[in-house]
Amino acid sequence: MKIIIVKDYDEMSKVGADLIAEVINKKPEAILGLATGSSPEGLYSELIKKNKNNEIDFSNITTVNLDEYVGLSGEHPQSYRCFMNDKLFNHINIDKERTFVPNGLAKDIEEECNNYDKKIEELGGIDIQLLGIGNNGHIAFNEPAKELSYGTHLTGLTESTIKANSRFFASMDEVPKTALTMGIGSIMRAKKIVLIASGESKGEAIAQLVSGKITTEVPATMLQVHPDVTLVVDEAAAKLIK
Ligand code: GLP
Repeated sequence: MKIIIVKDYDEMSKVGADLIAEVINKKPEAILGLATGSSPEGLYSELIKKNKNNEIDFSNITTVNLDEYVGLSGEHPQSYRCFMNDKLFNHINIDKERTFVPNGLAKDIEEECNNYDKKIEELGGIDIQLLGIGNNGHIAFNEPAKELSYGTHLTGLTESTIKANSRFFASMDEVPKTALTMGIGSIMRAKKIVLIASGESKGEAIAQLVSGKITTEVPATMLQVHPDVTLVVDEAAAKLIK
């Protein structure tokens, strides 16, 4: 695991964006696995800048997102589809038809999950997967649990995640309690993984990810056995790394 410790959120965003730009420039038809949350917002702004300066071209890029809330349409301002359109896709030269986010309104959830996995496989797999991390060590919406799922699946959100994500909603009650998420297997099959984290609240999860025992109770520890993981963490998030 490569660990890059940077000063702050802005530097994390720049370094993370450079890693993604490198992949795009090497492989213009790359498959990018993308994430939502506060962590990647700055990185997406950097990618937009690079696209506007003609440093990277998205015209042949395909993206697959990690997860989506169940029950929110793509137009709902807190849906992850809306987030992605707003923070990235609307501002770059990407073909929206090639941006995939699980459908949180799918009638047949099982079918939606199977089709999402099939889609990733048909595309030839993810070249670079961007990840954030939850305070409790979750990645995508793979929450701490006795068992973790391999493929895309329906999951319940933990109390701590609902609370953390309630900052985007009018109240805790409005936060969806379930989501569709890529599984640990889909994430681990990505050729390259970049995980970004900023701020003290991520410190414990980052320390566990780097040197804690591998356990389903801290899903991010699974990344210890992936052959190509780069962590880009700021000083505050790196504080507890031993
Ligand atoms: C959400 C997302 C994750 C994200 C995590 C941390 O629950 N499903 O993909 O990594 O929150 O988010 P943030 O970057 O806002 O701290």
